[in-house]
Amino acid sequence: MRLSVRSVLGITWLRLWFGFVCLSVAVVPDRAAAADPGSLMSHRIDELLKVMTLEEKLGQLTQQAGSEVQDDNPVTKETKEADFLEAIRAGRIGACLGAHGAAYTNRLQKIAVTESKHGIPLILGNDVIHGYRTIFPINLGEASSWNPEQIERASRVAAIEASAAGTHWTFAPMVDVCRDPRWGRVAEGAGEDPYLGSAIAAARVRGFQGHDLSARDTILACAKHFVAYGGAEGGRDYNTVDISERTLREVYLPPFRASVEAGVGTLMSAFNEINGIPASGNRFTLKDILRVEWKFDGFVVSDWTSVTEMIAHGFASGDADAAEKAFGAGVDMEMSSFTYRTHLGEAVARGRVSEQAIDEAVRRVLKAKFQLGLFDRPFVDAEREKRLLVCDEHRAVAREMARQSIVLLKNENRILPLSDSEKKSIAVIGPLANSRKDPLGTWASVGKPEDVVTVLEGIRERAESAVLVNHAEGCGVSSASRDGFEEAVELAKQSDVVILVVGESEDMSGEAHSRSTLDLPGVQRDLVQAIHATGVPTIVVLMNGRPLSINWTAANVPAILEAWHLGVECGHAVADVLFGDFNPSGKLPVTFPRRVGQIPIYYNHKNTGRPPSDERWTSKYIDLPSTPLYPFGYGLSYTTFEYGNMNIE
Ligand code: NOJ
Repeated sequence: MRLSVRSVLGITWLRLWFGFVCLSVAVVPDRAAAADPGSLMSHRIDELLKVMTLEEKLGQLTQQAGSEVQDDNPVTKETKEADFLEAIRAGRIGACLGAHGAAYTNRLQKIAVTESKHGIPLILGNDVIHGYRTIFPINLGEASSWNPEQIERASRVAAIEASAAGTHWTFAPMVDVCRDPRWGRVAEGAGEDPYLGSAIAAARVRGFQGHDLSARDTILACAKHFVAYGGAEGGRDYNTVDISERTLREVYLPPFRASVEAGVGTLMSAFNEINGIPASGNRFTLKDILRVEWKFDGFVVSDWTSVTEMIAHGFASGDADAAEKAFGAGVDMEMSSFTYRTHLGEAVARGRVSEQAIDEAVRRVLKAKFQLGLFDRPFVDAEREKRLLVCDEHRAVAREMARQSIVLLKNENRILPLSDSEKKSIAVIGPLANSRKDPLGTWASVGKPEDVVTVLEGIRERAESAVLVNHAEGCGVSSASRDGFEEAVELAKQSDVVILVVGESEDMSGEAHSRSTLDLPGVQRDLVQAIHATGVPTIVVLMNGRPLSINWTAANVPAILEAWHLGVECGHAVADVLFGDFNPSGKLPVTFPRRVGQIPIYYNHKNTGRPPSDERWTSKYIDLPSTPLYPFGYGLSYTTFEYGNMNIE
């Protein structure tokens, strides 16, 4: 009852207010404004800023997590939800993350536009990293295609689905260059090369944002994590980064610059510190480089609580200081901590932050909302959402992306592709062979295991009906048990060929999932050895989120496919390559070390005065070759070709 009275009052107020703004737009500025949408928008923003209180302005600079399923306890959930909805109604939140689906996002948006004083729509952000519901290969996999056009198509599909479900803004592309595969977030990026990373960053921005942000199927992109997050010491997530300005500019900044040049609307400031200053309080990167040098005119959002984490960094003395430092450095919007709305009002009163600076930040946020068309079309159509999510057309793009992401690492005696006529029985073995969850990869948004075609299913579907396709797990991904070996070995012995699917589960890479070794987890290497010992021709399919040091497998098993976590079309894509329906074309976007001790190892390292050689006093290890297991750019195909008559221009 209370709600409906409030809503009616809110709607009435909103109508009056809109009437006023429309009237003033029509009569006040001038004819030029009416003819020029840019100046019309800035006029509407000016009008809003005139009537907003400082508290309401700080609300626009606050992003709060709010999902329907955040809390399983119905009692606390209700209270929390009531608080959350009230904060939207009161204008204390301008942006949310974690809200999914047309029904729920429309519900939140309705409160913002019909029950809040100024009717300013929310901007709803989510991590649409490698697909929304139609899950694509992890980003490192997509980068293996070296095909920005296809990656742009994949991002387009993600934007179409996400926007249909009420998401306006994705926290992607993740454009962190990474030279340390221990870092779990290597899975989310485009690998080690600034140039390839820049081309892919720009492609993803184009794919998400399209040509017209106000179209109903485009979303705002967010290049993250600004900056040098991938340089974490020891590959340990969130760790300190200490690099020269030269390395910053030559290695870590280029993909961000490419994103800005491609028109990215937002950037996210990172968790890490750079040379002693946290990235979320770093004027040099956020102002001098981003605003002054690059003329970026979108807005910057902090990473999740990275503003308050500056206290633990030892950089801010408390919440109020953190707010001033982050805002002063150039972070416009705070994600999931609330120091801006709690402390910046006081900072303005004490003259430590100017209200004009707050207005500029709010202006940038409102501009994004106008550009997205949220004032004119705040709601989404639930029917459209139903029609589009994981539709056949989107799956077709995912299949193409997945097969282009596969890298053929070894193919001795041309054991691949499999020829149907010779093989009467195929054993599909390994803990990942029939996994439905793991192919979804580290950041599967609202992806569902039931959408996934497993490797076993893909092979069964493709193999001729006379061919027997059997399966045994052999072992778990990381368990120490060898109990399943016997069954797997027996199955292998009865088969003409073995497809052995090993690697990492989806939760072994991604945020806060760094590893100290790059070996196959658990007893999987022993399983590979046991199957190999049967003498039955064996093809290893790797499913993983980072480079792995698979030295024994590389030396002994005749064929290896690097399949990463390939998304919903995993099984089809792997079968396409195994059976030769698709000629593998992927190339590694990142170096595979022989051993962790070689890290950092990357292709574009500088020469030393003593390049490695057999001689004693050179730059090398005494217990390991200085070359990688597989270099950056490596990848075979079923064709053979030679490069010739090359000239340098
Ligand atoms: C923290 C992650 O670092 C960032 O990539 C992500 O976008 C935010 N959380 C929001 O989920």
